[in-house]
Amino acid sequence: MSIELWVEKYRPQSLDDMVDQEEIVNRLKEFVRDKNLPHLLFVGPPGTGKTTAALCLAHDLYGEVWRDNILELNASDERGIDIIRSRIKEYARTVPLSEIPFKLIILDEADNMTGDAQQALRRTMELYSRTARFILIANYGSKIIEPIQSRCAIFRFQPLPKEHIIERLRYIAEKENVRVTEDGLEAIYEESEGDLRKAINTLQSASAIGEVVNADTVYKALGKVTPGEVREMIEAAVKGDLLSARDKLRSLMYSYGLSGVDVVKLIHREVISGRSFTDIDNYTRATLLDLVGEANYRIVEGADDEIQLNALLAKIALVFSKRS
Ligand SMILES: Nc1ncnc2c1ncn2[C@@H]1O[C@H](COP(=O)(O)OP(=O)(O)OP(=O)(O)O)[C@@H](O)[C@H]1O
Ligand SMILES: [Mg+2]
Repeated sequence: MSIELWVEKYRPQSLDDMVDQEEIVNRLKEFVRDKNLPHLLFVGPPGTGKTTAALCLAHDLYGEVWRDNILELNASDERGIDIIRSRIKEYARTVPLSEIPFKLIILDEADNMTGDAQQALRRTMELYSRTARFILIANYGSKIIEPIQSRCAIFRFQPLPKEHIIERLRYIAEKENVRVTEDGLEAIYEESEGDLRKAINTLQSASAIGEVVNADTVYKALGKVTPGEVREMIEAAVKGDLLSARDKLRSLMYSYGLSGVDVVKLIHREVISGRSFTDIDNYTRATLLDLVGEANYRIVEGADDEIQLNALLAKIALVFSKRS
């Protein structure tokens, strides 16, 4: 079996293949058309396409020989600014290997540099600005000193929206012949927080666990409680089997080390998502949400976790005993 990482396998090669970040991609394409660009600063949360955009830009700008025209440095794993400066110096000295009169220097994790290192970087940027363009990449723009910010065109990457994450996951799943369910995609998205790298990695590890990628395999892959386990506890309560509901509650709390609030949130997720309680009316759902809210409040205020959760399960049992 191949252990190739899907995040790398499906990393876009060209700006045309990038998902979302439309405004950014369009402005970068203009630079490609003009065969010119200012220094750039890419800012944004992990896994939103910053490094990918820099590499795609290089690819589209230089064509075949793009690798010969970029220097990729990582500000945090190089041993300090002196090494960075000497590598830049060495690299920027040689002439660009294409019709474009400058080469690219991609400096990842630039926000990990100290203020002094950034000052030194700023002078280096000036020194080589005829033969090199810098693309600085950072998670936090505010950690980049003002004089560098003012020398760069700033691009702000946003967490990817749900539809784009899901669309990309579907595409990859199809190419990899992986079956994935709606609730599996939903679960991956919920846990990804708009980070496409995390989403793709989760898809890959979940696909190694079971035949089908569904919410259960996704949470298992992440080492989290699966909806199935929470559902079993709730179903026991609904049936009025409070002893077995309590056992399941204990095993959730102790084998996963969950706090009372964590468990309340899981129950909340089940009520909201409609994965559990599939055939209840809106009024019953509202009643359940109210009970969950009350348990949450009491626990946060300092009441005993286990007692409150057992009370919540008991109240759920009562709601359903009245229904039938
Ligand atoms: N906009 C995007 N379009 C297509 N694929 C993307 C996009 N964003 C991220 N990816 C996928 O996620 C992976 C990680 O993206 P990338 O390395 O560009 O993230 P990053 O923004 O540089 O994150 P970090 O801040 O952690 O370095 C890529 O290999 C690619 O597979
Ligand atoms: Mg990156």
